[in-house]
Amino acid sequence: MKKIKISPSILSADFSQLGNEIKKLEEGGADLIHVDVMDGHFVPNLTIGPPVIKALRKYTKIPFDVHLMIAPVHKYIKDYAEAGADIITVHPEATENLLESINHIKKLNKKVGVSLNPDTKIDVVLDYLDRIDLILIMSVYPGFGGQKFMPEVVKKIEGLNQIKINKKLNFDIEVDGGINFSNYKIVVDAGANILVSGTTIFKENNGDIKKNISTLKLV
Ligand code: DX5
Ligand code: ZN
Repeated sequence: MKKIKISPSILSADFSQLGNEIKKLEEGGADLIHVDVMDGHFVPNLTIGPPVIKALRKYTKIPFDVHLMIAPVHKYIKDYAEAGADIITVHPEATENLLESINHIKKLNKKVGVSLNPDTKIDVVLDYLDRIDLILIMSVYPGFGGQKFMPEVVKKIEGLNQIKINKKLNFDIEVDGGINFSNYKIVVDAGANILVSGTTIFKENNGDIKKNISTLKLV
């Protein structure tokens, strides 16, 4: 059976209780904690930055999967590394030189993620796949939780997984946006091995986080 990791997005958590919410995610079986960082410029919404991530770090040992939706991103990468990010994911459109940003994250001894928006083609990362630990496929336009999954990205996941197999590479394929109990199997079958979910994990089954995480692992 395929091992699926779940990375709950704290965007759907109670922001006045973030530390406790993270503890609940840990008790509920989360593999990673997905932290959505938005700047009100690269995306039309504003969330949290390094001081909050640093404050949350002491609540769990689970790796922080930090999704940076900020531009220009390059000069801020170090701040997120120091705040306690374990995976640092950037969007190619948010940096002047993707390879430089990838190398910078690696030098800071963090895992490198690159995120592809629904309109961004795999070609953008093709030359760098051997240096990338994780590709984050966006299945919504980034900016907000609770949006509807875009089924057209399934083909992109399949294409990326085929390249991964052909080139014998090891990067993770993570999917982010609108994941629910009716579509998660489709993206896993297409090749995803990490699922991000905010709304489904925090709101389904009256907020039974443990039940929701374990359901998303049933493939
Ligand atoms: C969207 C964020 C997602 C979002 C996922 O810009 O990157 O991580 O919080 O939330 P749901 O699961 O509600 O789509
Ligand atoms: Zn995200």
